[in-house]
Amino acid sequence: MVQIGLLGFGNVGEGVHEILVKNAVRIQERCGQPVRIKTALVRDLSKPRSSASQGISFTTNPDDILNDPDISIVVEVLGGENPAYSLISRALKFKKHVVTANKEVIAKHKETLFSLARDHQVCLSFEAAVGGGIPIIRSLKVGLAPNEIEGIYGILNGTTNFILSRIENDKQEFNVALAKAQELGFAEADPYMDVSGLDTAYKLVILAYVGFKVNITLDQVAYEGITSISRTDIESANQLGYTIKLLAIGRRDNAGNHVFKVHPTLILKSHPLASIQNELNAVFVRANGLGECLFSGPGAGPLPTGSAIVSDVIDTIFDFGCHSRRHVEPPAKSVVPLQSATTESQFFIRLTVADSVGVLETVTRLLGKHNISIANLIQQKNHKDTATILIITHHIVESEMRAGISELEKETCLKVDSVIRVGFSDSIE
Ligand SMILES: NC(=O)c1ccc[n+]([C@@H]2O[C@H](COP(=O)([O-])OP(=O)(O)OC[C@H]3O[C@@H](n4cnc5c(N)ncnc54)[C@H](OP(=O)(O)O)[C@@H]3O)[C@@H](O)[C@H]2O)c1
Repeated sequence: MVQIGLLGFGNVGEGVHEILVKNAVRIQERCGQPVRIKTALVRDLSKPRSSASQGISFTTNPDDILNDPDISIVVEVLGGENPAYSLISRALKFKKHVVTANKEVIAKHKETLFSLARDHQVCLSFEAAVGGGIPIIRSLKVGLAPNEIEGIYGILNGTTNFILSRIENDKQEFNVALAKAQELGFAEADPYMDVSGLDTAYKLVILAYVGFKVNITLDQVAYEGITSISRTDIESANQLGYTIKLLAIGRRDNAGNHVFKVHPTLILKSHPLASIQNELNAVFVRANGLGECLFSGPGAGPLPTGSAIVSDVIDTIFDFGCHSRRHVEPPAKSVVPLQSATTESQFFIRLTVADSVGVLETVTRLLGKHNISIANLIQQKNHKDTATILIITHHIVESEMRAGISELEKETCLKVDSVIRVGFSDSIE
């Protein structure tokens, strides 16, 4: 029998347990032996646990797991950087295989932890850290192994996708949609990690490591969240044939330069990522052999996340005694990604202007001064003496775009309401 020590028994811990119990026969068939949780570390022993967890020994002392020779796999589902990082490190040094769902720990400490795993000849797996239940890590590592990855474009945060979907489909304002996400349990009481783009940025650091085999740090990812996106932005994007998603973008250009960024992005409604609604996640991969491929599914929740974790457990058991290359993360090379300001994008600009002669000429002249050419423009009269102008630009270097916008902002006859990047309109993004 394979015995697991669980660090944490909250939402995801319960999900891991439920999958192991519900699918015990199937899992035993795959592994050739039964798999069970022996001990679980928690903070509060008096908290009620599910009745099915009665066979598990609960403890507040991690040594009951780390020092137990019967436990060969440690599953970390505590969350947060510490004590998770120190407990994972200790488990690896104790030659225990580790499975974790912790994006923060992997994003921040991957080099140290993978090096520890290599030195102690054990596996460190992290499928659930990105995309919840979607098997994107294993797909990049194994299924797409013969390919050079050219681009990874991910909707990696269910909370923000839920909020953007509710604004678009139910015409809700941001705060109403956020409150609904909290009521349904998709968003934390403190939604900062999600709505700021930080959660997505951690996941992009991990995808960069697995997909592009490069070691980047969080401060090399330019990230922006969705707090500035209004219902009007989404309605205007819809008018032009686009939707808005919080997108993690990782790509390598023909010169071998990397770009890693997270920002709200206008996506044409015909693109497969545009159809990813509510709390679902998706990763769109461009690979030089396979071509384009979309992975989508539940990005969170006890059972989907538990499924990803147990798949890592099963894969670890396959590897028992041989420590195959599949489980060894080779050291990744460090790169200096291109600064966001030097990259090219198309942009969506929304302006409120005085509805008078010469204003449109002012807008096009000032944009033209910075080589910003217009691909699409709509002007609509508003109720009072103003009009709304919606613009989609051609590709332009971001620093030029910012300079053009600064000039527009000096004009008294107009107000810049929004500037949002547009993705997937041609081969550049
Ligand atoms: N929730 C999801 O859908 C989801 C999806 C993908 C990845 N993840 C990741 O999975 C991890 C766990 O998430 P979760 O939603 O299951 O969290 P959670 O419900 O808050 O559960 C955390 C568990 O860890 C225990 N714990 C926390 N700090 C501890 C400490 N210092 N010492 C001992 N025990 C401690 C808690 O004990 P008590 O029960 O006694 O409080 C609880 O059992 C996180 O890294 C998260 O990012 C979650």
